[in-house]
Amino acid sequence: MLSRRGFVAQLPLAAAAARILPEMAWAQRAAVNMSGLPKDMVWLNANENPAGPPPVSLDAMREALPASGRYHYNEMGGFYAAMAKSEELSPEQMITGSGSSEVLHTAVDAFTSSTRPLISVTPAYEGPIELARALGRPVVLTKLREDYTADVKRMAEEADKAHGGLIYLCNPNNPTSAVVKSKDVDWLVNNLPANSILLVDEAYIHFVETPDVQSALPYVRQGKEVIVARTFSKIYGMAGLRVGFAAARPDIIARLSPLRMNVISYVSARAVVAALGDQQSILRDRKASLARTRRELCAWLRQREVRFIEPHANFIMIDVARNAREFINTMPRLGVAPGRPFPPLDNMLRVSIGTDADMAKFRDVFWKVYKG
Ligand SMILES: Cc1ncc(COP(=O)(O)O)c(C=O)c1O
Repeated sequence: MLSRRGFVAQLPLAAAAARILPEMAWAQRAAVNMSGLPKDMVWLNANENPAGPPPVSLDAMREALPASGRYHYNEMGGFYAAMAKSEELSPEQMITGSGSSEVLHTAVDAFTSSTRPLISVTPAYEGPIELARALGRPVVLTKLREDYTADVKRMAEEADKAHGGLIYLCNPNNPTSAVVKSKDVDWLVNNLPANSILLVDEAYIHFVETPDVQSALPYVRQGKEVIVARTFSKIYGMAGLRVGFAAARPDIIARLSPLRMNVISYVSARAVVAALGDQQSILRDRKASLARTRRELCAWLRQREVRFIEPHANFIMIDVARNAREFINTMPRLGVAPGRPFPPLDNMLRVSIGTDADMAKFRDVFWKVYKG
């Protein structure tokens, strides 16, 4: 039996072990429980980009690899400068991390406390929420509105009630793929209670087509109490390279900086710099291609009168009209892995948008299970 003293002695270790796990870690966790998976499994469970890193990034990494025996810390200044320039920020307004997971981690650690909660919606991306819980910080989860969007007024009320907190807004939200319109984000930024900071997770912002939604980066440039998290894991197809960044006012970045583990891999940094050199065309082409595949899937679902939440990211939430666990358990054996369960949306199945061939197989397998 664990004595109280033993338990207390273990607390710092437990807190130190708490890390924001990126989506793939979750996916692997689910996968290890299943045996006999087909070799040509279509993975639609982690919102990755099947296009992978752009060719310019692959070339840059091949060139960088032989020199990876050295630290290359001296390259990080140039790397920051290139990243900052790509978003019209100064290097002091940014911090990079091992995926956006690391910068989200630092934000939760720095701006929640035993009295200042993390405030979000349910369901939202679990990483920051689980970390706050593991660190013993209070967590307040508000309900989504009827249209599956976040209720920004409720979130502000909760921050006010707690005399301050960190509001985590994932836009588009994972897992719903729904968005909060710019006018609502604007209201929130301008009505943040005292001692509150808004953390906007824009992991999927590049996939948004509607003009009603814009990035929150302009608020950073205006010096507001806003942190924006971005990642190279999604539209840039670099999930395995682990690069993300947070943008915020320099004094906010200074609070995040000491909580970071280290610099990112120099091979990954080279891949990012190469991609940023061709940023416009990479983003334009990938967004157009994803949007087309997404539109086709939505049309197919509509034809069959299968309901879904209007998607704005590279994944979609499908209402399977019964507990989605049946699909989550059955589909992998038929060669397609969908997302994990997302309570309280128990009848919803999250499916990442893959290649056209992936989605053809998805439609086949999904329909078989749907028809029973
Ligand atoms: C909304 C959101 N934020 C952050 C992450 C973390 O991703 P990464 O650490 O690869 O940037 C994910 C992963 O899927 C995500 O869905």
